[in-house]
Amino acid sequence: MSRRTKIFGSLVMAAMFLGAVALAADAPASVDLSRYKSSKPVSAFDHKAHVDAKIECKECHHAAKDGNFNVKCDTCHQKKAEGKAPGIKDAFHKNCKGCHEKAKNPKAPTKCNGCHKA
Ligand code: HEC
Ligand code: HEC
Ligand code: HEC
Ligand code: HEC
Repeated sequence: MSRRTKIFGSLVMAAMFLGAVALAADAPASVDLSRYKSSKPVSAFDHKAHVDAKIECKECHHAAKDGNFNVKCDTCHQKKAEGKAPGIKDAFHKNCKGCHEKAKNPKAPTKCNGCHKA
């Protein structure tokens, strides 16, 4: 193997390694959930506060593959449960409220109006 091929090889390896690691820098500061158009809107979800609290991306983006987090929850979670996938409301409540109940962190709301402020 030539020296050049070796250098190229290690660059490819490094790129693959970096690609596999989700960087907090790739995470948006906040995400707008209002498009879920519920009767009880959760408009601004402080995405950054959650990343700063050192919660793994996969804790919420449980289905993310190949470092692609840009897939909406309702790509798979429909209005009603389908197969093993709970409906969208249950998916959010299990994920969001479920963690808050376990976290026992006074800053993590468990009451309806802690998340549904509108
Ligand atoms: C506490 C839960 C949670 C954690 C932790 C989390 N995310 Fe998210 N993220 C969400 C939700 C909810 C959405 C909105 C999904 C939707 O619209 O269906 C989202 C959306 C995104 C989007 C799409 C941007 C947009 O405007 O819709 C990206 C990119 C993203 N997250 C990256 C990350 C990365 C990278 C990490 C880890 C560093 C991370 N997220 C950690 C819950 C989380
Ligand atoms: C690519 C498809 C896909 C995406 C995108 C997806 N899910 Fe899921 N989700 C599933 C499937 C399938 C299941 C049921 C099987 C399983 O647990 O993996 C599930 C299960 C769940 C469960 C139930 C776990 C339990 O213990 O009952 C929660 C909560 C959940 N998803 C939340 C979310 C949230 C929040 C998002 C967006 C940040 C999301 N999902 C995005 C496919 C997806
Ligand atoms: C794995 C655990 C976990 C998940 C999942 C999670 N949270 Fe949280 N959440 C926390 C913790 C911990 C805090 C307190 C953060 C701090 O110390 O500031 C918090 C704080 C909050 C707060 C109050 C601070 C703020 O952001 O204004 C709101 C509102 C909130 N979460 C909404 C949500 C919603 C909506 C979801 C689902 C899309 C969600 N959380 C998912 C752990 C979680
Ligand atoms: C930890 C945050 C959190 C808590 C606490 C919470 N919710 Fe939600 N809820 C959400 C999220 C996120 C959604 C989905 C996004 C949206 O609809 O804006 C949602 C959706 C809903 C929906 C809309 C369903 C639909 O299909 O339109 C209703 C109704 C609802 N919640 C009622 C409640 C009630 C009642 C309580 C208290 C018993 C509660 N929620 C507590 C986060 C929370």
